[in-house]
Amino acid sequence: TDHSIATSNTGDPNSFAYCTSRERWPKILSSAIDEIRTTLQKVGLSKADVEAGKRIESQVTTLRSVMLSDGALQRIPGDGEADIEDYNIELDTLKDCTWLQSPWLYTECYMYRILHTFFSMSTPFWQSFDLFTTSKQQSLVDSKKGAIELVKRFRGMLKAIADKEAVDEATQKAIFEEMVQICLWGNATDLSLLTSLSVEELDSRQGKAVRESSKKNVVVDDTDQAWKLLSNLKSSGSSGIIHIVLDNAGFELLTDLVFVGYLIESGYAKKIVLHGKRMPWFVSDVNAPDLIYLVRGFADGTMYQDLDAEDNKELQDTGKYWQSLMDSGKLIYEADPFWTTHHPFGRMPAVSPSLFQELASADLVVYKGDLNYRKLSYDGVWPYDTPFSEVLGPLAKKHGGKGVRSLVLRTCKADVCVALEPGRAETLEEGWTRTGKYAVVSYWDAKS
Ligand code: F6P
Ligand code: MG
Repeated sequence: TDHSIATSNTGDPNSFAYCTSRERWPKILSSAIDEIRTTLQKVGLSKADVEAGKRIESQVTTLRSVMLSDGALQRIPGDGEADIEDYNIELDTLKDCTWLQSPWLYTECYMYRILHTFFSMSTPFWQSFDLFTTSKQQSLVDSKKGAIELVKRFRGMLKAIADKEAVDEATQKAIFEEMVQICLWGNATDLSLLTSLSVEELDSRQGKAVRESSKKNVVVDDTDQAWKLLSNLKSSGSSGIIHIVLDNAGFELLTDLVFVGYLIESGYAKKIVLHGKRMPWFVSDVNAPDLIYLVRGFADGTMYQDLDAEDNKELQDTGKYWQSLMDSGKLIYEADPFWTTHHPFGRMPAVSPSLFQELASADLVVYKGDLNYRKLSYDGVWPYDTPFSEVLGPLAKKHGGKGVRSLVLRTCKADVCVALEPGRAETLEEGWTRTGKYAVVSYWDAKS
């Protein structure tokens, strides 16, 4: 039941897929090789682990040269996980895929998936090794200034909503809008696009002033509709369950946790389910240890050095607060295998019916980031003014209330973008879908 729309292709010189596959992917694999080499230098690895590491290094090196010479995609060897079969079936269906002449979405997922098999079929040490951990953790450490500012703002907001009398409808709406902006622009700091961000650049992408001036860069803004939903939820006897399909670890995850705290404390959600990935994915996507690293690092005060006592306490209290949500089951983390398949989300009802049921029964599903957006929209080359519901395909269906009520918070870092007012795209600067400077807040109520 796929759309018949053409998809972004690495062979199209006018696409972002074109330079991504030729420039950024080889760089990502080079960094992977460096990371393996650095790890091999470390003392304490057993002889078997050193041998295994060298083998992985040579596998990644080969993968990289096949990519650079536009070789064919090979079937992925089975590592015992069921999703590999799906990748290989799709590869057969696509026929004659080479790295630089193939559907962007498929091939990029394929790259991270085959990379993972090198590790998953190695020794236990390498099986649990995440070659992106260092960069994911560093980005959070480098985000110190933005993180402190954000946590303070979060605590201030919690005080305001606790003081219910003082919060009128307009203020409540303003708080929601700010939370959406925070969570949205948190997505501007993913690591696969921004291979070398300095601390200054990170700061400038994360502060409040920037968020405000960035508002005009939100080219699709359904915040009002999402607000209407939330403000009705409390009175409608709903399930009180909201899902967040996460994107990146580090600063973005911090903004997501702020959003979580906001939704729970203001009574819009009783329980939040976070969806992460089961394996290292698109460089910076969240794996379970990344969430633990953040929450523990805040709770025990080890995340940042040289904080003044007051900031330190605020950060620790906040970390402990998130920990308490997890301990009480109000905040849950899941990593369904579906998220690391190549499938566009419209195939979810067929490919992963249980996950679809789970999402369809929720009050709201929030999708973060660019990759999720590409998967929601089949990475299609849609006219920019195509309605959002049209690209969603089966997820948009209202059959028996069984669609997924979706809110997307995404900074644009690819080719696809829809739901713009007719004529709007033409007024934007060249390359606007690619740089992360523009963003969309798209909402679709599949239940009403
Ligand atoms: O190739 C760059 C890229 O990996 C895109 O393909 C992808 O959509 C994006 O970066 C990742 O962004 P995000 O973390 O927002 O999904
Ligand atoms: Mg990502």
